[in-house]
Amino acid sequence: MQTHEIRKRFLDHFVKAGHTEVPSASVILDDPNLLFVNAGMVQFVPFFLGQRTPPYTRATSIQKCIRTADIDEVGVTPRHNTFFQMAGNFSFGDYFKRGAIELAWTLLTTSVADGGYGLDPERIWATVYYDDNEAAELWQEVAGLPAERVQRRGMEHNFWSMGIPGPCGPSSEIYYDRGEEFGPGGGPAVSEDRYIELWNLVFMQSERGEGTGKTGFEILGPLPRKNIDTGMGVERVACVLQNVHNVYETDLLRPILDKVVTVAARPYDAGNHDDDVRYRIIADHSRTAAILIADGVSPGNDGRGYVLRRLLRRVIRSAKLLGIDGPIVGELMAAVRDAMGPSYPELVSDFARINRIAVAEETAFNRTLASGSRLFEEVASATKSAGATVVSGSDAFTLHDTYGFPIELTLEMAAEAGLTVDEHGFRELMAEQRRRAKADAAARKHAHADLSAYRELVDAGPTEFTGFDELTSEARILGIFIDGRRVPVVSHSDAAGAGRVELVLDRTPLYAESGGQLADAGTISGTGAGASARAAVTDVQKIAQTLWVHQVNVESGEFVEGDTVIAAVDPQWRKGATQGHSGTHMVHAALRQVLGPNAVQAGSLNRPGYLRFDFNWQGPLTEEQRRQVEEVTNEAVQADYEVHTFTERLDKAKAMGALALFGERYPEVVRVVEIGGPFSLELCGGTHVHNSAQIGPVTIVGESSIGSGVRRVEAYVGLDSFRHLAKERALMAGLAASLRVPSEEVPARVANLVERLKAAEKELERTRLANARAAATNAAAGAERIGNVRLVAQRMSGAMTAGDLRSLVGDIRGKLGSGPAVVALISGGDGDAVPYAVAANPAAQDLGIRADDLVKRISAAVNGRGGGKADLAQGSGKDASGIDAALDAVRTEIAQVG
Ligand code: ALA
Repeated sequence: MQTHEIRKRFLDHFVKAGHTEVPSASVILDDPNLLFVNAGMVQFVPFFLGQRTPPYTRATSIQKCIRTADIDEVGVTPRHNTFFQMAGNFSFGDYFKRGAIELAWTLLTTSVADGGYGLDPERIWATVYYDDNEAAELWQEVAGLPAERVQRRGMEHNFWSMGIPGPCGPSSEIYYDRGEEFGPGGGPAVSEDRYIELWNLVFMQSERGEGTGKTGFEILGPLPRKNIDTGMGVERVACVLQNVHNVYETDLLRPILDKVVTVAARPYDAGNHDDDVRYRIIADHSRTAAILIADGVSPGNDGRGYVLRRLLRRVIRSAKLLGIDGPIVGELMAAVRDAMGPSYPELVSDFARINRIAVAEETAFNRTLASGSRLFEEVASATKSAGATVVSGSDAFTLHDTYGFPIELTLEMAAEAGLTVDEHGFRELMAEQRRRAKADAAARKHAHADLSAYRELVDAGPTEFTGFDELTSEARILGIFIDGRRVPVVSHSDAAGAGRVELVLDRTPLYAESGGQLADAGTISGTGAGASARAAVTDVQKIAQTLWVHQVNVESGEFVEGDTVIAAVDPQWRKGATQGHSGTHMVHAALRQVLGPNAVQAGSLNRPGYLRFDFNWQGPLTEEQRRQVEEVTNEAVQADYEVHTFTERLDKAKAMGALALFGERYPEVVRVVEIGGPFSLELCGGTHVHNSAQIGPVTIVGESSIGSGVRRVEAYVGLDSFRHLAKERALMAGLAASLRVPSEEVPARVANLVERLKAAEKELERTRLANARAAATNAAAGAERIGNVRLVAQRMSGAMTAGDLRSLVGDIRGKLGSGPAVVALISGGDGDAVPYAVAANPAAQDLGIRADDLVKRISAAVNGRGGGKADLAQGSGKDASGIDAALDAVRTEIAQVG
């Protein structure tokens, strides 16, 4: 029975039993925890968990599934596929164990004539979860299976989940005994090659949490309802019904295998186990690769892209090991399309795209495989002759980094050579490289430090710049780079996680940053089979002066080396860029007219709306010079000069007086830009307006020094110039309104205000001094007497600075007469600081009283620091709550001596 018939009978059987037929979901679902859809139930998870109400209670589907965990088993065992079709029936709170067993049993054992698969009931075995008596009994009751053909197994085998949190439950598996030539008897518990698992019935009743493996997780609790999820392996059933040895020889895989037979040096099934495994790997992996590309994956260095890359590279290498030297992937993709197309029409309709991505990966891999394999041979023989068995991590890293060998490939090749690999060392080097790359990318804008990756393209010839004549050009992709590493394909999805993505084209209208002009903004879009590809160009840089490298954001689809694309400049951007660049020439010419030929250009930068021009000049321009430069520039704009560009021999152009940038290396033949005849003549490769009036107004907004003898003029051009002026006008209007005068009176008004402010400040200072004097007189009048000593010890309210306090203690001391007198003032309560000052007169000092000693006392009480001399000392503290204690401490100290 052919696969399409197996699929059809399955769906018919379940539709007849009241199930809604649901199409397969993509192998990529939007779940970051799940690399690929690995079971038919994945698209129904929200129904099982009770998060959404299903529109049906019974469903059936044939789901595309990818499982790569057992990739090493592919071709070795008779039953492992990286891609397979899972036929399933699902009950959402409808039938449970009995229904599931009945429905499966009927389909398997009903005769072919009556629409079933016609399997011999005597050869069917079942397994159940070790404590699931109910299922075990149902197998006997519903199917009449004798107890010895129902085996009980533990969680490892008979408890199913997706491998991540979600619905789960005990399962019951159905096996078919292929006969004693396939292995020993004793049921599936003994041999899963002889007893091949056809169908898994999962009694979906619980929810699992985080964890790993088949047993290392917690059961969180029951699901809202009891459900059924089953999965029948279409390839496995085909294997049994077509009576072939393994799944790779079934009707949908065999043609791919046969295609390989026609080109391989050695035949299939001729007694060479290793060769047979290679054949099966090729058949299995090419099919999976086609399905992955069809669902939107493209080869990459991590995640899904890496799985695809690894599959394709295993195909290519297996083919080489079978003695196939030429390209093979294109033919394999065609064979997959022909075999699988009837069930998967996307493989036919999207073939051109699938083929070009797969073939591009092959081309890229072949480029490096040859040299990498040579290096591996050397490494392997050096390792062996040194008597070692381990290939070093750094060799594995070189193979990966320079030759694009996936680590798994190195591991496989090492195993074939009887060696192992220091994988740990390899991974450390990878991690270090990632760290370095991150730091590099952050440090550099144009991260082209390692040019070797671009060398081949540089050598192949220059990029043709079409942007003087057109804004849109058809071009071919010559190379694609991700973080400086050449790749055959870049897609929206790999670009999302990647760093710098670059496209090199044979021709482009996009200006690359040079001569002070920033790169054009624009887009690159695919055509034909790649029509969905679109990228925004974020920068264009030249490598080796000749190769245009477009840095892009891939917004949709994928770009493949060799693709024909349309590169287009954003016309608005370009218009602004020409205004900026021509404006720079105008300002340059005006500066020379106003300042003379000593104003020599030192650099420039321009982009839409803005320009800056650096030139050698001592000292700032005068107001008048600046006004003149602006005036001359705008007059020349207004004169609407024609802009004329032509090429000329360098010496001739210089003889004509064309200005060149000092220190710049120019080619033999140069481009000259002339504006208004003698007004401006410069060597320049930039893009320009046709007539000077197109530049629009030029407004100088700054003139400053950027180093000794170099000045910088900055200006706005075009609409930005106007906007700048409009903003200034609005500012002035606001100012006039708040000052309540017409704008022409604003300067006089402001001058007047400044005068008045100065007068007010003077008055304020006078008042402060008068107040301080009054305070001093008051304080002196209120002096207390301790023994012979007159003391003023006070807390001062209001914010007083240390300086205020110091002069105040001096003033008060002067008013206390010649007998022993001490003044201690502490300002407190305002803000955090507690400043204080102490003065002691000579008579007090004669008694042994020192101002600095008293400051120490205060400091201790207010958590402060201070110092000074015997006559005058000051300090500042942090704790205002200690002020009273501080004043008391001063009194106590004086009481002791006085
Ligand atoms: N979801 C179950 C499985 O994949 C049926 O085996």
